[in-house]
Amino acid sequence: MIIAVDGPSGSGKSSTARGVADRLGLRFLDTGATYRAVTWSAIEHGLDLDDTAAVAQRARELRLELSTDPLNQFVIADGSDITAAIREPRISEQVSKIATNLDVRKELIRRQREIIDDAQPSGGIVVEGRDIATVVATDAELKVLLTADQEARLARRGAELAVGSVTAEQLRDQIVRRDADDSTVAEFQVASDGAVTIDSTDLSLEEVIDVISRLAKEASTE
Ligand code: DC
Repeated sequence: MIIAVDGPSGSGKSSTARGVADRLGLRFLDTGATYRAVTWSAIEHGLDLDDTAAVAQRARELRLELSTDPLNQFVIADGSDITAAIREPRISEQVSKIATNLDVRKELIRRQREIIDDAQPSGGIVVEGRDIATVVATDAELKVLLTADQEARLARRGAELAVGSVTAEQLRDQIVRRDADDSTVAEFQVASDGAVTIDSTDLSLEEVIDVISRLAKEASTE
C-alpha cells in the first residue's frame, strides 16, 4: 500500500504522515529530506548552487541512507549523520534552488521510488512531499492533499522554530517566498486524479491522522 500526502510547507504534512504511518504500522518517507540532503552535500562540497550540472552530478554521486521508521528518523549522507543539519535555516533558505533543478529531481524521484518499492513487502509506506500523487507514486491507493490557510501554516512553523532567532516577519517572508519558489515546479500545480483534499486549518493533528487512517482502511478493502 502507498499513501501519498502532499501539501505546502507548514500544512502539517510531516507530523501527519508520520503519525499515520505509526498508527497503521507502515513505513514513512519524507521526500523533502532527500532535497535537503543534496542541498547540504552541495554546500559541503563548495558547489555553486546555480551550477545545475554540478549539483545534479553531486545528487547522483551522493550515498544517501534514509530511515523509513516513523519513530526513528535519520538521514546519513556519505557517512555523516545530517539528521539535524538538514533542518538548519541555511538549508531551508537554499533548498528551493536544488528542488527546482530538474536533473536533481529525476535522480531523487528514482531513489524515492526504490525506497517505496522496498517498503511494499512489509505492508507499505506513507510518502510525504509535494509531487507524490502527481509524479512519484501516481498509483498510490490513497492520495491526500493537505492544506491549511496561510495564518495557520505560519503559526505551525513558528511553533516548530520556537528558538527565538526568527522573527514573525522573517517567518512570513520565508513561507511566502518558499511557496512562490516551490510553485515554479510544474507538477505542484496539477491537481491529482482522485486526491482527497483535507483542510487542516481547524483540525488537531490527531483529528487529521484519524481521518487519513480511516480513508486508508477504506482504500485497502476496496
Ligand atoms: O517539505 P520540506 O520543507 O522538507 O521540503 C524541502 C524542499 O524540497 C522544499 O523546497 C520543497 C521541496 N520538495 C520538493 O520539491 N518535492 C518533494 N517531493 C518534497 C519537497
